[in-house]
Amino acid sequence: MSRKNVVVFRTLPPDLLARITERHDVVVADPRRAEERERFLAALSQAQGLIGSSFALDAQTLERAPALEVISSISVGVDNYDLPYLERRGIALCNTPGVLTETTADTLFALILCASRRLVELSNHVREGRWTRNIGEDLFGWDVHGKTLGILGFGRIGQALARRAALGFGMPVLYHDPFEVRVPELSGLVTRLPMDEVLRRADIVALTLPLSEATRGLMGAREFGLMKPGAIFVNGARGGLVQEDALLHALDQGPLRAAALDVFATEPLPLESPLRTHPRVTPLPHIGSATHETRRAMAELATENLLAVLDGEQPHCAVLPRR
Ligand code: DGY
Repeated sequence: MSRKNVVVFRTLPPDLLARITERHDVVVADPRRAEERERFLAALSQAQGLIGSSFALDAQTLERAPALEVISSISVGVDNYDLPYLERRGIALCNTPGVLTETTADTLFALILCASRRLVELSNHVREGRWTRNIGEDLFGWDVHGKTLGILGFGRIGQALARRAALGFGMPVLYHDPFEVRVPELSGLVTRLPMDEVLRRADIVALTLPLSEATRGLMGAREFGLMKPGAIFVNGARGGLVQEDALLHALDQGPLRAAALDVFATEPLPLESPLRTHPRVTPLPHIGSATHETRRAMAELATENLLAVLDGEQPHCAVLPRR
């Protein structure tokens, strides 16, 4: 098999980089670093394969890559890519579903616990030397067990979150998804409802759905306005699903009690964003899948996907398969 040109646009573990380098000519350049941007753009002119994540590759950028056969994204989300454009050009787009499901559901449940039990705020209370007497009601949190959880989007991650909530914390789960989903172990424990009903009835609402043109800005003033007084909002999916002004309004004027957010419309979160310092927001730096084990598994799967397509085979996972 002849050698091809690959651009690695995010750091890969050395052994995986070596696997690619054995078979193909590789340029490593991270376009998010200003000093590497030009090298990345220059390498596109010869590239047949791209592997990386967390950088939007729009049609204008990819016009510089006339020989491109495959983008192997080290992510499950594919909102950084222009799917109709890739499809028109016959470029395969691979992603890494499955291997990050449980880790991301762990993160979502951690967000629920953080917001409800005020864990970060209270930990800071101790760190900052303010724990000088037993805490009073003003610092109490709210129970998680037994509360009704609403999940918008019931794919793999939504289902994994529902298992934690229903089986571990005795929480009734309501979900909204275009499809009725049958999960045998959750039979009788989860209910599919229209989105407005989920928002009206849930004590805690979590987003686990993908960002697309259909879902961009899904949570706006109307949607937050439907939520229960004192409800908690959790986003571990994509920041673009939420109109952040409407979220802030819902926190300041009601009905929201608190929010825990792993994702934002702009990442990294700009220093001037009020969501960074809002007293009832727990912000995290997009850590959904960020464990050693899971990031390793994602990088391995993405490497295999890339090598398969460059070898003329179908990858393990593809949003747009090889043609
Ligand atoms: C994903 O895999 O889509 C995660 O959000 C990391 O970007």
